[in-house]
Amino acid sequence: MPTLKDTYPLYLNNKAQQPNTDLAVTDKFTGEVAFRTALASPEIIDEAIAGAARAAEPMARLASYERQAVLQHCVERFTERFDELAYALCVEAGKPIKDSEGEVTRLIDTFRIAAEESVRMYGEVMPLDISARAKGYQSIWKRYPIGPCSFISPFNFPLNLAAHKVAPAIAVGCPFVMKPASKTPLGAIIMGEVLAETDLPEGAFSILPASRDGADLFTVDERLKLLSFTGSPGVGWDLKARCGKKKVVLELGGNAAVVVDHDSDLDDALERIIFGAFYQSGQSCIGVQRIIVHEDVYDRFRDMLVAKTKTLVAGDPKDRDTFIGPMISEGEASRLKGWIDEAVAGGATLLTGGGCKGNMLEATLLEDVHKDAKALNEEAFGPLAILQKFSSFDEALAEVNRSTFGLQAGIFTRDLFKMFDAWDRLEVGGVVINDVPSYRVDNMPYGGVKDSGLGREGIKFAMEDMTEIRNLVIRRG
Ligand code: SIN
Repeated sequence: MPTLKDTYPLYLNNKAQQPNTDLAVTDKFTGEVAFRTALASPEIIDEAIAGAARAAEPMARLASYERQAVLQHCVERFTERFDELAYALCVEAGKPIKDSEGEVTRLIDTFRIAAEESVRMYGEVMPLDISARAKGYQSIWKRYPIGPCSFISPFNFPLNLAAHKVAPAIAVGCPFVMKPASKTPLGAIIMGEVLAETDLPEGAFSILPASRDGADLFTVDERLKLLSFTGSPGVGWDLKARCGKKKVVLELGGNAAVVVDHDSDLDDALERIIFGAFYQSGQSCIGVQRIIVHEDVYDRFRDMLVAKTKTLVAGDPKDRDTFIGPMISEGEASRLKGWIDEAVAGGATLLTGGGCKGNMLEATLLEDVHKDAKALNEEAFGPLAILQKFSSFDEALAEVNRSTFGLQAGIFTRDLFKMFDAWDRLEVGGVVINDVPSYRVDNMPYGGVKDSGLGREGIKFAMEDMTEIRNLVIRRG
């Protein structure tokens, strides 16, 4: 079994520094302190932003093959350090070891995609002679890095959601300062350790665990040209309101729905929905929260779901048989337990689960939940799924759209027309056919509409956000 160190540094202007060991990070299953990291003061954050501003020009001047070499180095080193990275996630996030390994595999994919895309940042030649006044003119445009970026990454995918910011920034040549989640900073710190092995220009990156109070500069400092935030909707929209002239990308939450039509393969839908609702204890922005089932198959599918949910093994995330590990904190588990109790008090039926001890909340299924209940309308971000019944496909689509969120939706159907109908009419960033909304491959466009956010990740799309078009107009004399 890999081991973790007792203390970890922060990375300031590409270099490891240990000004203190003020951040204690717990093993989320045992509750004991697993290691300590440095915590950045506002002065250190300021120094990092100044370094990033100085690095903007040398970063922009790097050739594509040089940026690609940095990303390829990361792919190699993450592959070599696979077990250590997975173990770190398992400890700091309480993520079951198999899910942790899955995340490291995705981290490597994300950097590999960025390495490929880094040499494909194309522009376009445009004739401008569309009328007499522009005769003899043409333009050529290219993409130019936007400059120093500010990244705030979440606790639920400490590696891969940090990678979705870091890898495209390197691919386009933007320096960055990053604040990883305080409950799970280690993934990003190890990323810093690997980046420090490269010869990126000084100031190209700083990775700075910081307390929320001290971290305002990540949002308000005008030297930073883009803020990319992944986290809760409340925090994300508030940051946007305070970040001045910066471009903003928000990857926020949702209460994702999956529709199971009467012609679906129910065994297949069952496997996928159990995964989508309960993997890493439902702590994913695209975890299945609402299961909307056609009335003809509702009773049968509900019984299948309840029986399968009862078999899920809960316990120590380091154990390979564990499917349900702890939630990130006792506070989060008791918040969601409160919503479940409130829904039941409002008339919902508890089909299974509902029990909570410390930060271990049981995989829970509810039905007949009142339309206004928090459990149905807000983001659960935990192991809770709610069954709903529909009689017409129109009604199912309307129920999906009733949400204030719109990240991804899943539709189990064998009907091509319904597939296109769902794609046209659902107010989401992505529709997944014959799978759960929780499905994501790291090169696809990923992001939400409505309260779920702004902009798209998926390397190529993030690279577009991290660049501006710079045009060249040429007059032929
Ligand atoms: C998220 O929770 O926003 C990301 C889900 C994923 O990358 O699979």
